[in-house]
Amino acid sequence: SGGPQETMRSAHELAAKLYYHVLMLTEQGSEGRTYVKDRGFTKEQIEHFQIGFAPDRWDALVTVLNKRNFSLDEMVKASLIGERESKEGYFDRFRNRLMFPIWDGQGNVIAFGGRTISDEKPKYLNSSDSPIFHKGQTLYGLHLARPSIRKEGVAVLFEGYVDVIAAWGAGMTNTIATLGTALTEDQAKVIRRNAETVTICYDSDKAGTKAAFRSAAILEQVGCVVKVAQMPDGLDPDDYIRTYGANRFKSDVIGASLTLMSFKMRYLRIGKNMQNEAERMNYIEEVLTEISTLSRAVERDHYLRQLADEFSLSLDALKQEQYQIFRANR
Ligand code: UTP
Ligand code: MN
Ligand code: MN
Ligand code: MN
Ligand code: MN
Repeated sequence: SGGPQETMRSAHELAAKLYYHVLMLTEQGSEGRTYVKDRGFTKEQIEHFQIGFAPDRWDALVTVLNKRNFSLDEMVKASLIGERESKEGYFDRFRNRLMFPIWDGQGNVIAFGGRTISDEKPKYLNSSDSPIFHKGQTLYGLHLARPSIRKEGVAVLFEGYVDVIAAWGAGMTNTIATLGTALTEDQAKVIRRNAETVTICYDSDKAGTKAAFRSAAILEQVGCVVKVAQMPDGLDPDDYIRTYGANRFKSDVIGASLTLMSFKMRYLRIGKNMQNEAERMNYIEEVLTEISTLSRAVERDHYLRQLADEFSLSLDALKQEQYQIFRANR
């Protein structure tokens, strides 16, 4: 029903159709087809996620939008195209890129992520925020994943678009991703409205681990139960699925996800020699500090017992120690 935002959504829908058409059926899409073939995307994945290809031209989308009488100034505001600095015309923002439509919660295309198929920078070019697109409030794949997320009560959160697409290929339909920025509180609230439990499954690198801690804190703040899934060094979910297959991803990564506290405990252990008394004591103290941040007594008790068992300590001694730390930090 009219309005500039409705027009912007229609233009995005049209652009998605164009990019899909280019990828599937045209000569200009042949390099895109080679790329998706090499990466192993199936026809089903391409269709389900409406993946397309922006040809290596300056005027492919501009021409189509112009023919359909879209105001090109408005299309610049929608971040679909750019305007020349001289103000003497318009150009396609996305060129020679594999195109991932980004939808709002209702399934309207509102933005794109475009992955270069060469080594151009940036690797992913994303639409800028616009009247219809707010990156910090949008989650990739949510409208597709929502029924599964609600049914299972669990959302799996990835870093990348292609991780969502790979997981879908592996039979996991409850997965979503942020759009290249840190998880925001708005996004966390959206997730909480759909699921109680969130399994964070970020890339297995330093940045991914750091981001997992940050996201976990935000998700807990809005009332989610957080679990963390981990992969071996350097891999991301898409890499893992291609290397080890769908079944191992589901059993050894998602199925083996840790509670947030267990994840923290494992993290605190890194680089410490538990045979060394000073390092062991240091570890125990750090874990006790973490345990004291838990809000539920049953949880605190659970991890205190676990710690006591692991190091053959008495529960009383640990509680005593925790009390000392608590007083010292007050
Ligand atoms: P990654 O660098 O992990 O990319 O960034 P990826 O998902 O594994 O992609 P492939 O496998 O190399 O194709 C994760 C996410 O960060 C955002 C994108 O949303 C991407 O999905 N990102 C990454 C950007 O926005 N810009 C970039 O240049 C890189
Ligand atoms: Mn915004
Ligand atoms: Mn990454
Ligand atoms: Mn990645
Ligand atoms: Mn990847």
